[in-house]
Parts: sequence; structure tokens; C-alpha cells
Amino acid sequence: MNDFEKKGYYLFKKAINPSLLSQIVKETEEMFDKGKKNLWPFIRVYNDYPYLKDNINVFGLDFPLNEKLNKNIYNLINKLDYVKKLKEISKWENFKTSVIRLHVFENFFNYEGFWHRDGSTFPTPNQIQSVIYLKHEKGFRIVPKNKNHLLEKYDYPLKDNPKKNSQLRGKLPYEMFDVIEAEAGDVLFFEAALLHQGFSKKERMHFHLRHENLINTIPADSNNNFNFNKEFLPNYDLDNLYANYNVYIKKNDFRSKFKRFLRLFFYFLPRFKSIFRNIFKNKDIKETLFHNTFYQ
Ligand SMILES: [Fe+2]
Repeated sequence: MNDFEKKGYYLFKKAINPSLLSQIVKETEEMFDKGKKNLWPFIRVYNDYPYLKDNINVFGLDFPLNEKLNKNIYNLINKLDYVKKLKEISKWENFKTSVIRLHVFENFFNYEGFWHRDGSTFPTPNQIQSVIYLKHEKGFRIVPKNKNHLLEKYDYPLKDNPKKNSQLRGKLPYEMFDVIEAEAGDVLFFEAALLHQGFSKKERMHFHLRHENLINTIPADSNNNFNFNKEFLPNYDLDNLYANYNVYIKKNDFRSKFKRFLRLFFYFLPRFKSIFRNIFKNKDIKETLFHNTFYQ
């Protein structure tokens, strides 16, 4: 049994050649800049803090390969040769890519997401996600496949997504999960239904993708090695995207500014709701008290 079969994830070190990597990094830095300045409408903002230097605290950019965002990135991504590695590791004949997003994060704020599974039900050998690291990053937490059954001990669901607050924000013991540390140019593959949590105390920049096994082999298209869904292709019409997207709107009225200020104020305090629930509600699993705060 190889490492991927045992743990359900594998980190390929130095999967991207350095010259291609530096070109991708250059383009993504520019894309990130557009996101921060709201020059790209399809952004995710999870913690809307006050704008520092007029920049939004962007967490992710959707449809990052669209030519309206960047003219070069699609061709560069298409040059990556880790498709071969994915097929090797998954033993799939062919696949499609149904998600791609650029995850970014600034230096100042900390981030801790919910524990969750991306696949419908554990295990998901036909759904593999990948993370293409463009900067050094440490923190992503993942419960390996061979430890999934132990989650029962901590009152976590074995197949589905956690639902209770104490599970979503639960303090799992360190021996239950692995912490991924990657360098720019490394690529992580993991089964979508492994329990995982985004965790970052420093800057980060990576592409996040989801690949799905295709049983019927389709002819390879050298212009679309990843077999991306059509909405991720560079020439996809933005008007179609607007219809189903909750676009972030930069607001500078007093109320919005005050809300952002309050969020920043609470960034320097423990999570009172979690303290309250830990005392009165949570029995076995306690919630972390410092998630998404300065003290995380
Ligand atoms: Fe996820």
C-alpha cells in the first residue's frame, strides 16, 4: 500500500519546474492585486475587516482562469505536467476538473475555517482535490484516511459533514490530524471527503482544484489538459457568471465601516460565543476560543 492509499493524501514535492513556477507566481500576484482592489467581481471575503491601504481582505478569487482577469494564466496552468502524477496516484484513466479557485491571504490576519468534508460521503476515491502551492505555507489540517474511524471517539460523524458547532470548531487532539507544510511549487492531492480545515497564520497563495474520475474515456484536448468545466475556460462569458454569483460590493458608508471596525475590534478578543457554548452546551468536544483572532 502506498502513502496515498493509506492516508488518502500525498504531497508531491517540487512538482512544478522553477521557471514555470515563477511565471505563474508573477501572474497570480497581479490577479490577487486586482481582487484586493475589487477590479475582479468574483471574490470571496470571509472576514470583512477595515480596508488597509484601500484593500479588501480577500480570501479567494473565483473563475481565476478567465481572460478578463488575466490573459496568460490559463496557458501557464495548462503547461503543468502534474496531470500525469494525478493519473498515476489515482489510477484513473481520465478525469474532469469541476472546481478551480485561487486562495489568497494577507500577512496580518489569521484564519481558521470549519472542520468539513468536501465530498458527499466518506470515502471519495472518485473525487480528488489538489492544491498548487505558490508560496511557502504551513497550517492546512487533514485527518488521514487511516484515522477517520477514530473520529467516533470524539463524537464526529464518520462519513458526513460535521454539523454541531462543537464539531465545526472542535479542538481535535493534535495526534488526530496532520499539518501540511509546503513550499512554492509543491502540489498536494487529497480525497475530497477527508475531514479537513483551512488554517493559516501567515500569507498564502495557492490554486485549489477538484478533479473527478471519468469512467468513459474521452479524447484528450491538448488545449484543456485538466478537462475544466466550461465556466472555468478563459473565454467564458462573464454575464453567465453574474447570474449565479453573490458579487462583493465595496461599501464605504458609515454603517459598513463601523461593522468592519467592530470585526477588527473582536479580532483582538477571544470568541465569547464559543466560551458560552463550552460552558453551557458543549459536553465532549470543546470549541477553540481563539479561532480567527490575533491569538490563534
Ligand atoms: Fe474544503
